[in-house]
Amino acid sequence: MIMEKTQAYIQANKDKFLNELMDLLRIPSISADPSYANSVLETAEATATFLKNAGADNVTVFPTDGYPIVYGEKIIDASLPTVLVYGHYDVQPADPLELWDSPAFEPVIKTTPIHPEGAIFARGACDDKGQMFMHVKAFEAMMASGELACNVKFMIEGEEEVGSINLGPFIEKHKELLKADIILVSDTGMLSNDTPSITTGLRGLSYVEVEITGPNRDLHSGLYGGCVANPINILTKMIASLHDENNHITIPGFYDKVEELTPAERDEMAKAPFSHDAYCDALKIDNVYGENGYTTMERGSIRPTLDVNGIWGGYIGEGAKTVIPSKAYAKISMRLVPHQVPDEITELFKNHFENIAPAGTKVVVTPHHGGNPVVTPTDSIAYQAASKAYETTFGKPAIPVRSGGSIPIIALFERILGLKTVMMGFGLDSDAIHSPNEHYGVFNYFKGIETIPYFFKNFREMTK
Ligand code: BES
Ligand code: MN
Ligand code: MN
Repeated sequence: MIMEKTQAYIQANKDKFLNELMDLLRIPSISADPSYANSVLETAEATATFLKNAGADNVTVFPTDGYPIVYGEKIIDASLPTVLVYGHYDVQPADPLELWDSPAFEPVIKTTPIHPEGAIFARGACDDKGQMFMHVKAFEAMMASGELACNVKFMIEGEEEVGSINLGPFIEKHKELLKADIILVSDTGMLSNDTPSITTGLRGLSYVEVEITGPNRDLHSGLYGGCVANPINILTKMIASLHDENNHITIPGFYDKVEELTPAERDEMAKAPFSHDAYCDALKIDNVYGENGYTTMERGSIRPTLDVNGIWGGYIGEGAKTVIPSKAYAKISMRLVPHQVPDEITELFKNHFENIAPAGTKVVVTPHHGGNPVVTPTDSIAYQAASKAYETTFGKPAIPVRSGGSIPIIALFERILGLKTVMMGFGLDSDAIHSPNEHYGVFNYFKGIETIPYFFKNFREMTK
């Protein structure tokens, strides 16, 4: 077998690799909550130390206006191709804490039906500490065995879960430092442990918060009920009107730039294995729900969506309070597909939402962070190098799959650095990222560490 020494090093160091990941998972690097700031910084330092110990040079924790960006590199030969690895060391908040079977920052390995070899349960196990760390460990193995095939640069950020606001300016400022031939990211998923796939697209995002105001103060619902607009009634009515009977989004212009896939492309997509029953069973639902005319796979990847993420207002305490609230609120996200522009969609939403508000109410729409969608090529050397790597370690080629999630920074890499990305994700949709009991398969962790070195080897050989 090729890359024997690297693979032997991985086999010999499995316990160490697991324990080190568990150490990293113990630090609660929640970027959204300022009370965890010290832990986020500590995670940046720990990541830098791991990079240094693995053999990286010029390891630097670059400060930003927010959380730092960890950089490290190994340039073995300037004439060889350079791989820029991107990942994130920050994690989502762990709440609701009471729904975790074991504490979110005390990693434990337990088996599940999908992960008979065991899975590491902790916040960030899959998204993205576990997947980011595979690259550090694959690099360590290649360094230790003298088989590193390409130059490598690492850029690990700490603000992905809060919109990567400081990463754009960082890459703008460090274009020279970040010069590379390809970006490699493990922050997505694959179809299943025996159906490897490479993510070839991500949706974009437009995120808004809306506030509806009716009367200037909360009112007695007997004295005023029926006479003034109740902001919660109005808000729910307005939200309900955003989808028609076919579950199409009704915002004028929303679909103008959406690219319809050709029947051939849709046929190609439909080849990926998908079980409706298994899908429903995993979520304990009796049927799926979505836009007419599209399959579940299509609804979740190549079609744009609009979802309420949170809604609140009025009285939600114990017992009953008869009140017409003065205000009602909602957070609404729209997942976008190629050619839709987040700022344009936000503007369309804002105009439409203000237009449909009845007299007697006031609407304020506040945009949050957004991000551009991406599609990555499958006819590139880098894609072929990745595909061949999966073939070596899984015994079958990876299927290209467009994912519904978003990593806004990938589009920026292309715009600012002029670089394409290959997304070699090893997580599963069932790994509960962002949810209680997030986990990452031990199989997936090691499979990732084993597959990455072949990408490096193939990319070097195919670039020649
Ligand atoms: N790693 C995820 C995105 C992801 C997960 C893509 C699985 C494909 C498959 C990333 O950390 C994430 O959570 N992104 C956010 C957007 C971000 C701006 C907060 C998302 O998709 O909601
Ligand atoms: Mn992630
Ligand atoms: Mn995430």
